[in-house]
Amino acid sequence: MGAVSDTDPTPAAAPWWRDAVIYQVYPRSFADADGDGLGDLAGITARLPHLAGLGVDAVWLSPVYPSPQRDAGYDVADYRDVDPVFGTLEDFAALTARAHELGLRVITDLVPNHTSSEHAWFRQALAAGPGSPERARYVFREGRGEDGAQPPNSWRSVFGGSAWTRLPDGWWYLHLFDSSQPDLDWSNPQVREEFEDVLRFWLDRGVDGFRVDVAHGLVKAEGLPEWDHEQALLDGASASGERPPMWDQEGVHEIYRGWRRVLDAYDGERVLVAEAWVTPPERLARYVRGDEMHQAFNFDFLRAPWLAGELRRVVDATLEAHEVVGAPATWVLSNHDVVRHASRLGYPAGSEPASGVGPDDPQPDAELGLRRARAATLFTLALPGGAYVYQGEELGLPEVTTLPAEVRQDPSFARTGGADRGRDGCRVPIPWEGDRPSYGFGPGGASWLPQPPEWARLSVAAQTGVPGSTLELYRSALALRREHGLGRGTLAWDGGLTGGDVLAFRTRGVLVVLNLSPEPVPAPAGTRLLLASGELVGAAVPTDTAAWFAPA
Ligand code: GLC
Repeated sequence: MGAVSDTDPTPAAAPWWRDAVIYQVYPRSFADADGDGLGDLAGITARLPHLAGLGVDAVWLSPVYPSPQRDAGYDVADYRDVDPVFGTLEDFAALTARAHELGLRVITDLVPNHTSSEHAWFRQALAAGPGSPERARYVFREGRGEDGAQPPNSWRSVFGGSAWTRLPDGWWYLHLFDSSQPDLDWSNPQVREEFEDVLRFWLDRGVDGFRVDVAHGLVKAEGLPEWDHEQALLDGASASGERPPMWDQEGVHEIYRGWRRVLDAYDGERVLVAEAWVTPPERLARYVRGDEMHQAFNFDFLRAPWLAGELRRVVDATLEAHEVVGAPATWVLSNHDVVRHASRLGYPAGSEPASGVGPDDPQPDAELGLRRARAATLFTLALPGGAYVYQGEELGLPEVTTLPAEVRQDPSFARTGGADRGRDGCRVPIPWEGDRPSYGFGPGGASWLPQPPEWARLSVAAQTGVPGSTLELYRSALALRREHGLGRGTLAWDGGLTGGDVLAFRTRGVLVVLNLSPEPVPAPAGTRLLLASGELVGAAVPTDTAAWFAPA
């Protein structure tokens, strides 16, 4: 067999997920078939042709399980059913069948770090009392100080406030998130058995994989040592170099090896995707070793400032770390937890907001943000590995920064007294057709969060077939990515073009140029333009623009 060059077609046997583009559907905000203002499964099913037409390979659904919705469904009351607000198990089956018919895989969200406080297990734990086997599925402890009135340790909730809540019987339970999300105790074999069974329940229903929520949090350090720092999802050492005792503990890997064995017993290349806010990339790559998960979200890339040097550093570090374990990298710019990249990039580099934005905060430069977002997307979709698209980014939707306090629902807003604006601004329902109430989100005018008036011109209908629209940019980019097999390439920086604030790399015969400098970059000789994120100016790539070139 001859040497395989970068432009050779990859053998058909390459697993689908290594270069897949996976579209995140946030069910409550995608499409609302019954008109109650909250999206549902029937709504998603009806809109699946949009996703097939966009050119993605798979759909990841944020949680649709029965839930009191205290954290928008990431508080699960029953892992084997669908919440009536979203539909039924039959609706889920219909969605999966339709997706498969259209050639789309379906990935569902699994939330193993915590249950809802409404879950049968937690109710049983409350009823059974201290020391019971029912309580041993969660992390119950006695308090400190006189009468145990102080929480068992100093841990903070990611959403603000203490990570402990006290019960009337005097005991405390741990919740790294909202008090309605008690953490499970993963040293308990019952917990392990339960989740392997839950995996099988959905695998038997034909799902193609799981996005694993807070995958770096399940195991806590022995003895729950103090961690006297503000809490953040991102695992990172403190200023003094200590590592947080609640994130990225060695014990999580054994859990995922077990899950991998469960998945491997099924046909059809089912996948596990880690939502692991872990850094540096060498630590993240440990989640995607050969016998563990398939992909892990690369949040270092999402958080990188709009600076050429930083972007290049993160890309190189990511590729190197994944190469060592033989896993593909994954690239993501937006999701339901972060400020949408069309707004995030509208702030000066290095001062991008991490969490939400409120009406009284500094506002992004919308035009600049969209211009950079389109460039960032085109750069990202050419990188080797898998890519994620968050619903609405294909429309160039901005973060909604003007939501008044009374409509905000994210628990982090209430738990911090509004200091953390929360994530509602990236969760506003999608505009489908501009001239109807709720822009076609549902049959009536209802929408669980208000949509801004200027979204009429951003709707799917308003952008379809319009040359240069963000929607058409995504469609073209995804089609070219597939045609050229860009996700299967090998990245080689172009030494001649890369430098200063310009990044350029070659992959599978395509030259990708990203210009972050104020000066235009002339189109390289002997090339023809495939696609650009903005108009070229006199055959040059202007500032904050990305372009793909092929040999002339
Ligand atoms: C993950 C989810 C986020 C949720 C949290 C707690 O980070 O993406 O939306 O609030 O976990 O489940």
